[in-house]
Amino acid sequence: MQEVIVRAEVPEDVRAIDVVNLSAFQGEAEARLVSAIRASADFIPDLSLVAELNGRIVGHLLLSKVKLQHDGASKTVLALGPMSVVPSQSHRGIGSVLIQAAIGRAKDMRYAAIIVAGQPDYYERFAFQPAATWGLSSNLRLPADALTAMELMPGALKGGGQVNYPALFAEIF
Ligand SMILES: CC(C)(COP(=O)(O)OP(=O)(O)OC[C@H]1O[C@@H](n2cnc3c(N)ncnc32)[C@H](O)[C@@H]1OP(=O)(O)O)[C@@H](O)C(=O)NCCC(=O)NCCS
Repeated sequence: MQEVIVRAEVPEDVRAIDVVNLSAFQGEAEARLVSAIRASADFIPDLSLVAELNGRIVGHLLLSKVKLQHDGASKTVLALGPMSVVPSQSHRGIGSVLIQAAIGRAKDMRYAAIIVAGQPDYYERFAFQPAATWGLSSNLRLPADALTAMELMPGALKGGGQVNYPALFAEIF
């Protein structure tokens, strides 16, 4: 594979990221979700990552803040998604490179854990585990086994709890 560069998005990338999301997903919901998160307080510019190949953006992955509620207390963890790779470049490892980079950056930034809604078969290969491992649930209308998670700090998910996704996510789940 030619070298893929992963970096944080900059304002000039917004249109290209839209194009990636519109091409990877059927419909506009995910592209709209990315824009809505970008405009919200949950957005973390350093964790909206693009994959560049030959100077062209071919993939995007977003980690944003989400609240984990447990025993009346609330802590911030990260929600992964949407993520996308343009169909013409999929199955070449670009998604994997994006995920590994996202995990590394989130750890460096000292976030506690990452939660993923959907596609457990894909994410489990990166050591995401079923949310049930910790007794985690979410406010999304998803089958229980569709939620996976990863601790970035040991014990961060101990005791489980409910991941409260912003209403913006309800449109695609
Ligand atoms: C999912 C996606 C980001 C993967 O990107 P990628 O660059 O193709 O990923 P990689 O090359 O690192 O890995 C490819 C492997 O992932 C697996 N895979 C891809 N899509 C999958 C899915 N929807 N469910 C389960 N496994 C999947 C396959 O096993 C594939 O292996 P193969 O090439 O031997 O068939 C990309 O296919 C995509 O944009 N899909 C449409 C949007 C989407 O579903 N996003 C994820 C949900 S937010």
